[in-house]
Amino acid sequence: MATKDTFYVTTPIYYVNDVPHIGHAYTTVAADVLARWRRLNGDRVFFLTGTDEHGQNIARTAAERQMTPQQHVDDIVPRWREMLGLLRISNDDFIRTTEPRHERRVQEFMQRLYDQGDLYTATYAGPYCVRCEAYYTEDELVEDRLCPIHRRPVEDLEQENWFFRLSRYAPDLLKLYDEHPDFVQPSGRLNEVRSFVEAGLQDISATRSAFEWGVPCPWEPGHVFYVWFDALLNYVTAVDFGADDEAFARRWPADVHLIGKDILRFHAVYWPAMLIAGGLQPPRRVFAHGFLLVGGEKMSKSNATGIYPADLVAHFGVDCYRYYFLREISFGQDGTFSWESMEARYTTDLANDLGNVVNRVLNMVGSYCDGRVPDPGGPPGPAEAALAGDHAAAVEGMRAMDGLDFKRALEALWTLVSGLNRYVEARAPWSLHKRGATGDLGRCLYTCVDMLRVIAVLISPVMPDAAGALWAKLGLPEVLGDQRLPAAAEPGATPVGARVDKGALLFPRLEEA
Ligand code: ME8
Ligand code: MG
Repeated sequence: MATKDTFYVTTPIYYVNDVPHIGHAYTTVAADVLARWRRLNGDRVFFLTGTDEHGQNIARTAAERQMTPQQHVDDIVPRWREMLGLLRISNDDFIRTTEPRHERRVQEFMQRLYDQGDLYTATYAGPYCVRCEAYYTEDELVEDRLCPIHRRPVEDLEQENWFFRLSRYAPDLLKLYDEHPDFVQPSGRLNEVRSFVEAGLQDISATRSAFEWGVPCPWEPGHVFYVWFDALLNYVTAVDFGADDEAFARRWPADVHLIGKDILRFHAVYWPAMLIAGGLQPPRRVFAHGFLLVGGEKMSKSNATGIYPADLVAHFGVDCYRYYFLREISFGQDGTFSWESMEARYTTDLANDLGNVVNRVLNMVGSYCDGRVPDPGGPPGPAEAALAGDHAAAVEGMRAMDGLDFKRALEALWTLVSGLNRYVEARAPWSLHKRGATGDLGRCLYTCVDMLRVIAVLISPVMPDAAGALWAKLGLPEVLGDQRLPAAAEPGATPVGARVDKGALLFPRLEEA
């Protein structure tokens, strides 16, 4: 039997009642950065994203558009795939819950639970949010009986359907949380989840009979599975659960499910309970990030605060787009998007700090060294020692990526970028050149190019296009995509004599908006 040898990371599968906005893209970019980071560290990675296409909400949206649900989802899914290309998302697979490979395995998994007595019929009535596709209790509602997430009226829904004995798994869940305190991150959120389970779990309905747009329940004609059972199972159906045991064992359990905090209960309570019931291991980690806010509110299409990635990419470029959200907002906390703060990040961090030092260094190598990486003639001095300290701190600080602390990782990396700017000022290669101090000049410009090489490697998970452009400017013989840490960030690996090419500015001044 194969054993797990693959780092497996997922995004939520998104509802296709909407085209992707920056909230969806936030999770997807973060997952992509983690996937690229693990690949850079030499891991075999499987990165999954996809679309959640069943349920009443999708059926209603389709009806509003006077389409069949299938026509509707087929029409919207290309918009989601487009977003992936636009944002340079390196997913290894894209699962749609309407695919036969998924539907068949959902039926098999649920049949397994049924056969072992985990499902029973009952009637349930309560407030229901169609957008969440979830029941609430009266005290979870806000204001005038509004859904706490969507702030829209709930519906009173009474259904006779099949229930999953969730309550039976409370002890297993508590044991999971005790034995794996990292199961839910950020760590504060584990308490929230634990309290919910300790307060007493209700069984949850697992089928619906009021509409047809879902995976048919094999033992009960006229019922389809509740969309959340269907959706959560994507994480195993996409990695060949029930189809190829070897391929499944190499990837499952997932290393991390990246989600927004709105769907934490589904991922940290229902999902592990389903898996335990089905005899499968729970995922290793569920990371719930915060909401992107616009003008103080959760950004969403329904609140008419929708902002779309393409509009920002057109102005700031894809690299700044990917960088901004991860650098600006602590992953795990809510954060505010504003055009002004994005503009400030572009100008300060990218154009002034990074772009400028690249341009200056390559200019000087062009004019003082015939465009070739000079021999590091003179011995290193105190300025080099200071820069080596920044380098070490950056390489070490980047490890924060493993804990999904993107902000801290990027701050650490920028100590190297700033350190390099300070170094250029301190060594003043233009005056070394003027004085004819060839050895010191060689040492200085070699060190600069060498650090730009390290920076290109370290920014590559976050800004793949800029990293590739910088790498090309440095005229390095190897392929950036073949670089692996830790070796690729070690100093001194830049070959002497490589021909650099200043080319176009990495981060040109922004056009007036
Ligand atoms: O919940 N800020 O899909 P969904 C940050 N299909 N993240 C946001 C956001 C915002 N303002 N808005 C959306 C579903 N997101 C289910 C998931 S998984 C088995 C099924 C992100 O289309 C965030 O990741 O409503 C959130 O959890 C997700 O989009 C919800 O996407
Ligand atoms: Mg939603």
